[in-house]
Amino acid sequence: MCGIVGYIGSDQASPILLEALRKLEYRGYDSAGIAVVQENHNLLVRKIKGRLSNLELLVQQQPVEGMCGIGHTRWATHGDPSDINSHPHTDVSGSIAVVHNGIIENHAALKTWLEKHGVTFKSQTDSEVIAHLVDFHYNGDLLLAVMETVKRLEGSYAIAVVCEDYPDRLVVARKDSPLVIGRFQGCNLIASDVPPLLGITREVQYLNDHELALLTSDDVTIYSMDGDKLEREITHVDWDIEAAEKCGYEHFMLKEIFEQPKALQDTLASRIKGGEIHLAPAIDALLQECTHLLIVGCGSAYHAGMVAKYVIEHFAKISVEVDVASEMRYRTPLCRQGDVCIVISQSGETADTLASLRLLKELGVKTIALTNVVGSTISREADFVMYTQAGPEIAVASTKALTTQLMCLYLIAMVLKKNHDATLLAQLSQIPSLAQKLLEKQEDIQRFAARQFNKDKVFFMGRLTDYAISLESALKLKEISYTHSESFAAGELKHGPIALVDESTLVVAMCTQPQLYKKMDSNIKEVKARGATALVVTFDRVHEFDDTADEVFRIPETEPYFTPMLTVIVSQLYAYYCSVLKGNDPDKPRNLAKSVTVE
Ligand code: F6R
Repeated sequence: MCGIVGYIGSDQASPILLEALRKLEYRGYDSAGIAVVQENHNLLVRKIKGRLSNLELLVQQQPVEGMCGIGHTRWATHGDPSDINSHPHTDVSGSIAVVHNGIIENHAALKTWLEKHGVTFKSQTDSEVIAHLVDFHYNGDLLLAVMETVKRLEGSYAIAVVCEDYPDRLVVARKDSPLVIGRFQGCNLIASDVPPLLGITREVQYLNDHELALLTSDDVTIYSMDGDKLEREITHVDWDIEAAEKCGYEHFMLKEIFEQPKALQDTLASRIKGGEIHLAPAIDALLQECTHLLIVGCGSAYHAGMVAKYVIEHFAKISVEVDVASEMRYRTPLCRQGDVCIVISQSGETADTLASLRLLKELGVKTIALTNVVGSTISREADFVMYTQAGPEIAVASTKALTTQLMCLYLIAMVLKKNHDATLLAQLSQIPSLAQKLLEKQEDIQRFAARQFNKDKVFFMGRLTDYAISLESALKLKEISYTHSESFAAGELKHGPIALVDESTLVVAMCTQPQLYKKMDSNIKEVKARGATALVVTFDRVHEFDDTADEVFRIPETEPYFTPMLTVIVSQLYAYYCSVLKGNDPDKPRNLAKSVTVE
């Protein structure tokens, strides 16, 4: 998954492209590049391996002038990160340049075919075939050449194409990879996501799968694959530019952790009217009829689903099946009449989650997308959509998107419960302020991290919702601090994992289920007896673990089934500080990208 941008207007393109790429660097940072068409019909390409700062330096040393251009930030899928594999890719004569996000599945066959027609390839990427195909079909009409090209592509793509013959036009196309068009007076832009556009405009148009667009500085025309002109409304995006900046925090991740009280409040407040929960009339009606729920997602979104299983089965007495999307799409789900599936995805673009959504729709299951990105593919393809109101999440590791997903799932649980419960709703409404109270104790976690960040192994354990949040806690720690961390249902420890416990192990025991305190205490004693250090996360007034644990971190009192929205903040802060103490960049962990639009 990569990020693409494009600009056409009356200003110099390269600074605008570089600024836009900075907002997309979370999608990949193996290499970056731009191509600009000069007024005198020269096409100039600058591309280089490594972070965007390398490209900025290169452009400083070798400036490019021109008011039409495209840019790319790469997360390698085919071919090593290298200068030559960086985008933009050009045809043999260097007159056409292409940036691509996605995977061309039939690239090998296309390459063989192109080689037979005399084309010599420069890179090991799947994307290079696109530049050569556009050249092959080019007969003076760039739009037509791109149209003919995309008809031959299998797989996923969002592409932007420029040609030296046309310093006044930019052609884009998409299938299964995101692409948004930004509209402004005297210039138009494209990007893989909304934040890069916000510096210039908040008026956007979404391109659908199997569509192309021709951009000039004054106009945008959208076409079907057959060349029919299509109407598309312009959508106003509320996110402001501040929301996509760091605002004084050292990292986006820390800023996003601290935005959680507000994000939780925004997500909750818009759904409570007259002391009752109202999601949307159609969703409320669908949930009233629901007898069996499916939940699907990847990574943190899957963990949100795991929490929801415990919560919904406990409160609403409705059975819930939770699936990892990359498994669900290939297994044979046995769906029943009346099944409803909640498809969870922050980005709304994750390839496996999208494929599961499509499969479930084919099987006749009604789908509700739970996503953060307005206009994302999953939000548009699901039958219904519920937006987490987290605002843009830039750091690769999910924080506020996860907690707002949880808040939406708690609201769904309450609607499924049918009997209105004023006490539970009051406790749910307090969660944003409790999250704020918890964040005020961040220095305690920072100090604990300073003492423990070098531990070789960290195991998170818990029971019920505490187990579900242990899964998320271990993921967060491994992805940004590169510490070997795992999660266990505490009762499972003695069935194998305890063999791994020794003096180099930190065990974090999530203990917020009062009926299970004694069981957890025994599990903590078991790991302590093998030399582990134990941190317990429990409620303010609980002292059951004072004699067993090495340290106790306390969270504010609430309904025990609501604690995941608080305990996860402890894990997020712990992971963040471990990452920083180890000298990592928590916003851009190695080998990972924000939006996984490939399988
Ligand atoms: C972990 C993380 C990933 C995502 C996963 C799904 O911090 O961010 O595990 O949760 O890639 O992404 P979305 O929610 O965009 O479908």
